[in-house]
Amino acid sequence: GKGAAMVTAVAYRLAEHSREIAQTLSEFRLTTEQLLEVKKRMRVEIQNGLSKSTQEAATVKMQPSFVYSTPDGSEHGDFLALDLGGTNFRVLLVKIRSGKRTVEMHNKIYSIPLEVMQGTGEELFDHIVQCISDFLDYMGMKNTRLPLGFTFSFPCRQTSLDTGILVTWTKGFKATDCEGEDVVGLLREAIKRREEFDLDVVAIVNDTVGTMMACAYEEPTCEIGFIAGTGTNTCYIEEMRNIEMVDGDEGRMCVNMEWGAFGDNGCLDDIRTEYDRAVDDFSLNSGKQRYEKMCSGMYLGEIVRNILIDMTKRGFLFRGQISETLKTRGIFETKFLSQIESDRLALLQVRSILQHLGLDSTCDDSIIVKEVCGAVSCRAAQLCGAGMAAVVEKIRENRGLDHLNITVGVDGTLYKLHPHFSKIMQQTVNKLAPQCNVNFLLSEDGSGKGAALITAVGCRLRQELNS
Ligand code: GLC
Repeated sequence: GKGAAMVTAVAYRLAEHSREIAQTLSEFRLTTEQLLEVKKRMRVEIQNGLSKSTQEAATVKMQPSFVYSTPDGSEHGDFLALDLGGTNFRVLLVKIRSGKRTVEMHNKIYSIPLEVMQGTGEELFDHIVQCISDFLDYMGMKNTRLPLGFTFSFPCRQTSLDTGILVTWTKGFKATDCEGEDVVGLLREAIKRREEFDLDVVAIVNDTVGTMMACAYEEPTCEIGFIAGTGTNTCYIEEMRNIEMVDGDEGRMCVNMEWGAFGDNGCLDDIRTEYDRAVDDFSLNSGKQRYEKMCSGMYLGEIVRNILIDMTKRGFLFRGQISETLKTRGIFETKFLSQIESDRLALLQVRSILQHLGLDSTCDDSIIVKEVCGAVSCRAAQLCGAGMAAVVEKIRENRGLDHLNITVGVDGTLYKLHPHFSKIMQQTVNKLAPQCNVNFLLSEDGSGKGAALITAVGCRLRQELNS
């Protein structure tokens, strides 16, 4: 009768909806062939960044770090470290003891208000020095002139261990008058302006490099550093002869790839979706860091939100009603994505998380939201895996090996908090680089410990030069 016809109509509509949802999400499901293609393209961009003739136009810049070796255990002393560019801004005191091979750390977290992140450079650096001043008071050491390592997690053109010209801000930063400037100079000037204490800035360090060094202190096979947090990036030990932008052919140097910019020349356009383009268009740095925007914590939630808006408009979700919450940028932080995707969570709990965010969902809605999150984070982990496969293959070929055993030091909230990211990335690397045995090792506080280790080496080299 009529009732049965209605049931059939509803069932038909639901089937049609789930077909369309599956269709939308299928754009995020990359095949092995596509991932191999991503690996191949990364390899091309690595080469472009390393060669003198192509470096200027290259998107993956392959910045030299002037870190020539991993720690050997002889590092010793007390150091200050700054950590800017991750989830928090921190000031640290790091005590390294060579005899016992121990590292002791004290740190304090400071917030950087949005108006400072996006104000003038002078305000930003004055704020940083204000925080250092507070920390020195707190530790009772205003009058000790300690060597300092500055973990500054943005693309810098380095010409020595203690000069780094900011190429461009990334992630949520946009302070004026910093791009094109030597960041160490900006810090030194701000310390001078304050006329309160003196510091010896010895090294500027990318977080990937700090992470690699911190891990290598415990595990000598660590020759790669990887971050999947607010942003994403990788560094690794490259042969000097291949780094054409730096004189000398002997030995090796750690290279900060700045792989977040992969795709900025359009080479990933065939796999980017309309949602990726929307996230990019409305970001602080549109057109830049396209791979980072498909892979890292600051953007994954935004991709999810854009998909949800589209699905709601098409009537598949939230009864077709786009709430104010859903229109709010940045609502899905990494920690929410991680919670939603946790397997231990019952659907009811997913609903309560959505409720907490201000999204009124039915049971069906919560199933769909979880599926969307899964598709987006799985692609991110696979893309990072494809990039990493290119890196380990490059190292293997550099060394003329049939088989490479290597450790990657890792940090970042996405990698650490997400329930599936690490597993999917590992599987992807295994599949795409079968001749390499890649072991991922979580770093404990790379930005602090690693920066201090690099500063220690920097101090020693300086003493050797002076004697
Ligand atoms: C961004 C920065 C890069 C950093 C990464 C992870 O990609 O440009 O320098 O390593 O984020 O924090």
